[in-house]
Amino acid sequence: MFDEFKTTIAAQLTVLTGASVEDIADAIGIPKTNAHGDLAINIPRLRVKGNPAQLAKDWAEAFKVDQVITSAVSIGPYINFRINRQVFTRKVLSAVYEKQDKFGWTNEGAGKRVIVEFSSPNIAKPFHAGHLRSTIIGNLIYNLYKANGWDAISMNYLGDWGKQYGLLAVGFERFGNEEALVADPIQHLFEVYVAISTAAKEDESLHDQARAYFKSMEDGDEVALALWRRFRELSIVKYKDTYARLNINFDVYSGESQVGEGMTRAMAMLEECGLIIESEGAKLLNLEKYKLGTPVVKKNDGTTLYITRDIGAAIERFEAYNFDKIVYVISSQQDMHMKQFLKTIDLIGLPYANRFQHVNYGMVNGMSTRNGTVIFLDDMLRESKDIMHEVMRKNEDKYAQVPDPEHVSSVLGVSAIIVQDMLAKRIKDYDFDWKRILSFEGNTGPYLQYTHARLCSIERKVQDQVRVNPDADVSLLTEKHAYEIVTLLAQYPDILASTLKSLEPCTIVHYMLELARTVSSAIEQMKVYNEPEDIAEARLLMYWSARAVLKNALTMIGLEPISRM
Ligand code: ARG
Repeated sequence: MFDEFKTTIAAQLTVLTGASVEDIADAIGIPKTNAHGDLAINIPRLRVKGNPAQLAKDWAEAFKVDQVITSAVSIGPYINFRINRQVFTRKVLSAVYEKQDKFGWTNEGAGKRVIVEFSSPNIAKPFHAGHLRSTIIGNLIYNLYKANGWDAISMNYLGDWGKQYGLLAVGFERFGNEEALVADPIQHLFEVYVAISTAAKEDESLHDQARAYFKSMEDGDEVALALWRRFRELSIVKYKDTYARLNINFDVYSGESQVGEGMTRAMAMLEECGLIIESEGAKLLNLEKYKLGTPVVKKNDGTTLYITRDIGAAIERFEAYNFDKIVYVISSQQDMHMKQFLKTIDLIGLPYANRFQHVNYGMVNGMSTRNGTVIFLDDMLRESKDIMHEVMRKNEDKYAQVPDPEHVSSVLGVSAIIVQDMLAKRIKDYDFDWKRILSFEGNTGPYLQYTHARLCSIERKVQDQVRVNPDADVSLLTEKHAYEIVTLLAQYPDILASTLKSLEPCTIVHYMLELARTVSSAIEQMKVYNEPEDIAEARLLMYWSARAVLKNALTMIGLEPISRM
């Protein structure tokens, strides 16, 4: 959005400095505060010989101001420029008005396909904070790719295979209950798993039974597979329900169990490349040379492992989807596993190995209910919703006006969880803290929703007085708050681009918080209701645009924007 202004500046500076137009445009930035200028260039970045402060002074003096760039003043090694804010404001607000919900989106990915693999919980084990993070971050990545024109596929790779399913099946014979299974499969299978794991601590033979059962699954025993398939299907039904509360819908439910002959081919390739060593009947992958150890890829009973399945799946996925890129959103606890996996597909010479990317993230400590029990995602969402509902009830007047408090409190609960997760760089560990995340003020999801709802309420309140008019007289938006809002709106397309590049959720979330804070202070100063019509119209267009961008961003991070709370 600033491009036109940057180009105008660069056109003159290239003559004065001898630097290229591109280098100059790159060196121009938006200062943190606009006290001295709307745009500024850092002269040392041009690498022109001479004293930067002196050069800045000379060039600023030689710069001819016009209708677009209205002043040029040097401060130290910088030249600060003022732009024609009216032209700028009109341009930005028109662009938002025109694109609305798609403002900032591009077509850069047109014709390209990406698979984003995320969430991937393990059936019969808790859906823990690590899976929640993968879910939240993965969904944003998926939305970002889509907003950039990619053909994006969201994939859930369930942990639904391996010896632990043998153990689960053995456990179900002893502790299983058909009714409980149907009522809440995830809960019940977890209970069975806990019970049998405890029993197996006393009774080693249960582990042998589990191994034997899993072996029969891998050998294709129909009875064993039928039971397992039921567990899987019932769990998926339940997962879908829970994901729906997070506005997530997976295009594909795959899983470790679904990997097939890709593994056989992968094993053959590994043997051919001389990467396999044998030890006590098991097959190991020799990655010593790369300091990546010797992971087992086949046990001595012939059964496969987690990494074997990932390698096999890589081949099968490429053949099925012919993707240009594949992103695995998996905790940093599996960094070693992912390094081994990525190295291996490179070593066996898969020509598309460079299309794979691991996006990792740190741990969450202490995620539990208020009374301290470890929880499933479902409980987590319920708890968060209940707390939000309590907070909402405290303001009786407002509460009475919310048409569907159940739904709104649920969305606010989700907003709280998602935003707190995205506040810092994803690799950082953090401590989970209910108090910190649920406030309607500060850096929280509810605050973003609250700001969105306030903007909606401005529109509601004046609907009989003025309408959103793209041709409103924006020269009346002279306040500094107005320029701050417009500047932020102008940056949104760049924010989306840099979030897609770094895949760091905090980039977009910090932007949203800044926009919300700026809007909040503007609302105090710049009223719409009962103002003269032309002023009301100009301000309404500005607030409307801010709401459109906030809505756009909320949706991008996976939240349903709330219009009343
Ligand atoms: N189910 C695994 C876990 O919970 C995560 C799967 C990640 N994806 C993969 N392709 N390995 O630890």
